[in-house]
Amino acid sequence: MAVVVIDHPLIQHKLTYIRDKNTGSKDFREMVKEVAMLMAYEVTRDLQLQDVEIETPVTKTKAKMISGKKLGIIPILRAGIGMVDGILQLIPAAKVGHVGLYRDPETLTPVEYYSKLPADVHERDLIVVDPMLATGGSAVAAIDVLKAKGATSIKLVNLIASPEGIAEVEKYHPDVNIYVAAVDEKLNDHGYIVPGLGDAGDRLFGTK
Ligand code: URA
Repeated sequence: MAVVVIDHPLIQHKLTYIRDKNTGSKDFREMVKEVAMLMAYEVTRDLQLQDVEIETPVTKTKAKMISGKKLGIIPILRAGIGMVDGILQLIPAAKVGHVGLYRDPETLTPVEYYSKLPADVHERDLIVVDPMLATGGSAVAAIDVLKAKGATSIKLVNLIASPEGIAEVEKYHPDVNIYVAAVDEKLNDHGYIVPGLGDAGDRLFGTK
C-alpha cells in the first residue's frame, strides 16, 4: 500500500482556504471541486495508453489515447459528492456510483444504507472519494461494499487524512493506494481531524 501526498503548490494554496473557517460554502465548494480536479491529474498518472492512427491536417501519424479498464468514481455520501464534478471534468466518461453509510450510534460501526453502482463496477478502475479520512471506518466499509461486488482495482482519494485513518485502511485493504493533499496531526475525541477543516459535509452543503 502506498500513501501519495500530492503537495503541488496550487493544491496546498487552495487547501489553506478550504481549511479556513472564514471560507463560506460557495467558495468552499468551488475549491473542493478544484482540488479534486487537480488531484485527479496525479491519481490518473498510471492510466494505460495505446497507440492510435490519426490524421493531422499535415500527415498520418500515431498518437496516444487512454486504453485499459474504464473508470468509476465512487463518492462516499454525503461529503464525497463535493469531489465528483472536479474529477469528472478530467474524466468525463467515468461512471459514478454512490455508497451511503451511517454510523450505528451503539456499535459506532458504519452501516450501509444506500448503494447504487454501475452494473460493471467489477470491471472498472475505481476511485473512491471522500474529503476526510478520519477514523477510516467509512472508507474501509465503502471498499468492503465494492469488493463484495467483485471490484479489484480501487484507489482512495481524500483531501485530508489522519494517521489513524491511513492505518485503518492499510490494515483492512493493503491493496488500496491512498492519495491525499495532506496528512494531519491526529483525531480529536469527537473523531474530527486536527487541524482539519471541520465537518466537510456541513461546510459543503451549508448545514449545521
Ligand atoms: N468528517 C469530517 O467532515 N471532518 C472531520 O474532521 C472528520 C470526519
